[in-house]
Amino acid sequence: MSEVASAEIHHQQHNFQTDSEHRQHDRVAIIDFGSQYTQLIARRIRELGVYSEIFQASTEPAVLLNFAPKCVILSGGPESVSSPMAPNLDLQSLRVPVLGICYGMQLMAQQLGGAIENLTQREFGQARIRLQLSSLLFDGVASDQTDVSVWMSHGDRVVELPPGFTTIASSSSSSIAAIADEKRAYYGLQFHPEVTHTPCGQVILKNFVCRIANCKQDWQPSFIIEDNIKNIRATVGDGQVLLALSGGVDSSVAAVLLHRAIADNLHCVFVDNGLLRSGERNQVTEVFADYFGIDLHVVDGSERFLNALSGIHDPEKKRQIIGKLFIEIFEEYAQTLGRIDWLAQGTIYPDIIESAGVEGAHLIKSHHNVGGLPGKMRLKVIEPLANLFKDEVRALGKELGLDARILERHPFPGPGLAVRILGPVDQQSLTLLRQADKIFLEELHRHGLYTQIAQAFAVILPVKSVGVMGDGRQYGRVLVLRAVESDDFMTAASACLPPDFISHVASRIVNEVQDITRVCYDLSSKPPATIEWE
Ligand code: XMP
Repeated sequence: MSEVASAEIHHQQHNFQTDSEHRQHDRVAIIDFGSQYTQLIARRIRELGVYSEIFQASTEPAVLLNFAPKCVILSGGPESVSSPMAPNLDLQSLRVPVLGICYGMQLMAQQLGGAIENLTQREFGQARIRLQLSSLLFDGVASDQTDVSVWMSHGDRVVELPPGFTTIASSSSSSIAAIADEKRAYYGLQFHPEVTHTPCGQVILKNFVCRIANCKQDWQPSFIIEDNIKNIRATVGDGQVLLALSGGVDSSVAAVLLHRAIADNLHCVFVDNGLLRSGERNQVTEVFADYFGIDLHVVDGSERFLNALSGIHDPEKKRQIIGKLFIEIFEEYAQTLGRIDWLAQGTIYPDIIESAGVEGAHLIKSHHNVGGLPGKMRLKVIEPLANLFKDEVRALGKELGLDARILERHPFPGPGLAVRILGPVDQQSLTLLRQADKIFLEELHRHGLYTQIAQAFAVILPVKSVGVMGDGRQYGRVLVLRAVESDDFMTAASACLPPDFISHVASRIVNEVQDITRVCYDLSSKPPATIEWE
């Protein structure tokens, strides 16, 4: 089995475990049939204030019964229910309300005596469906109209209802878009209520979980911390854990959480690769060393990185050199620490989705999550945030008392300023870029704009341009300001910063940073551009 595969299995196994304390809360079991959105379902249930756990489709019925859920949600999945490989689950053994989503609905229909048909063409994307508002599942979903927008992604459809079921929604392409047997509290949705592209989705989920299954909304997100701490202790025991701290939100929250759980058995290593922004190393070391008393090791690798990057133009080569060197330094340093059993990473759920599905993103994540390291070092991997989304991680960090300077930080790429200096990296470019970037970020903070955008930074180009300063000719460097709005960094739009603000920043930069004569603002969106320039 490859390391990647074993790491993925580890993700799968990560779940908030039931313990006696959760017995007092009503519980939802989510059965995972391999959907990309299973964790999103769990997130939506968390947002409702109800406790949930994800179970693989192959889970023994006894385990599910022992969990004693008040209701069960069946996820979507990539298989067709008619395939011999199709995962299955005996629904009748559950004896609680069941909501099947997409594959879950098809499984329900097939198992209970209905019929399914393979579509020659998958139905994917936004669709309009007509709801039967008399069903409790759709109560309050739409006031005066029954036509709502939903997100579809399916290759099979139900063509014949099982006995006892009625159709409760239809669309122009599927006459059966949602089904219900209200007596047995079985419901099926062809569309995905858990994604934001189905605006009424959360009302539907709430109707199912809170009204049909009567779950009490008494579970709080802060319980994630307690659960995680217990999980970490149970998993790691008295093992020694090493965490590669980048100072970004995810690895920082992971560090604080692990520190709460295992205290001195956690060792954080922060590698200064010489490609950090102005004041970054001090900020991270101050926050962690003074505030939390975490065992923090700062390794200065700047000379090695800059030497290795000398004269390198190609962006991919730069990334490879940085990734390889980072691992080398990290490995060398780990040996000086003595016995280390675990490697902790701040991986969050979207990282896992991306690395599984999007090739470009896979490459990015191989840097981000110290690619290759677990296999090489024979360390076991622990990723306490692997079930959470970015905003949930920020909320967790806040609850854990993490400094707002860290929590609100925009993402910063693993290869650092090297991918924001187009062409070869040298000391002069690094100095100019640090000064200009500092001014830009300072002004964003001063004008209250920093937290309103997803990411902002400066990029320095390998070209010169003519300017005029103090009546003299100036032949200097060109700098680009980039600010984007984005939810998930997979797509992004250039942020519409006020023109006066941009002019002010540009003017400060050309006045204060010697050698920069021209400042441009990047208007490109992603796609087709990417957020970083390299
Ligand atoms: P792109 O440039 O691909 O960036 O649109 C999307 C997001 O990922 C960040 N990024 C990286 N993060 N290691 C990281 O940890 C990397 O190598 C890397 N490259 C890009 C980028 O800053 C943006 O937030």
